[in-house]
Amino acid sequence: MSYFAQGPQQNLHAFTFSHVRAEQSLMKQKPLVIWMTGLSASGKSTIADALDLALRAQGRFTCIIDGDSVRTGLCRDLGFTDSDRDENIRRVAEVAGLMVAAGLIVIVALISPSSASRHYARSIIGNEHFVEVHVDAPLAIVEQRDPKGLYKKARSGLLKNFTGIDSNYDTPLFPEVHVQTHLFSVEQSVEIILGWMASAADPA
Ligand code: ADX
Repeated sequence: MSYFAQGPQQNLHAFTFSHVRAEQSLMKQKPLVIWMTGLSASGKSTIADALDLALRAQGRFTCIIDGDSVRTGLCRDLGFTDSDRDENIRRVAEVAGLMVAAGLIVIVALISPSSASRHYARSIIGNEHFVEVHVDAPLAIVEQRDPKGLYKKARSGLLKNFTGIDSNYDTPLFPEVHVQTHLFSVEQSVEIILGWMASAADPA
């Protein structure tokens, strides 16, 4: 049981449920959060989708949490100020943590621009279950891709607080995996991530 000393949580007493580890061993895989961070249009969702298919083909149990989707439901009350982004990331990390406890491999695709919030997500999930993947491409390239026309809007001033334009992105300094989507194909990026998992994450 854990107790919180103060605040609205002071009368909550979390029960320690017994099913958690049993489910993990049934799935015969190491539960993991593969946390993809990168600029909008860097390729996070595309790589998440291809990685998900590859893992399922290996018989893994997976789930994707993607920024654009989560922001229409769980996080639909949030915008793009720094504090709203922190809250977006906190909620996703908490949900991903629950999924990891249930034994899944969770693929998260969020810009997650601040290194502090990525660090916080890692601390919620636990270092041994967290892999940071920097899905990287230079701003000039993602701006050229601009599949949703958002960079154009941001440059013209129609969209405020846009990451990379008038809102900061902290480049990950020590991500476990670094994929450069202007140099590698989607398949190559997936292979790099799977290679890391095979060598370091020790999937069953
Ligand atoms: S995060 O910064 O809080 O991690 P998240 O990944 O959930 O962002 O959402 C990013 C998506 O929201 C982008 O792919 C884009 O489609 C959309 N979006 C809308 N406004 C913004 C903005 N100001 N900055 C970045 N992305 C935005």
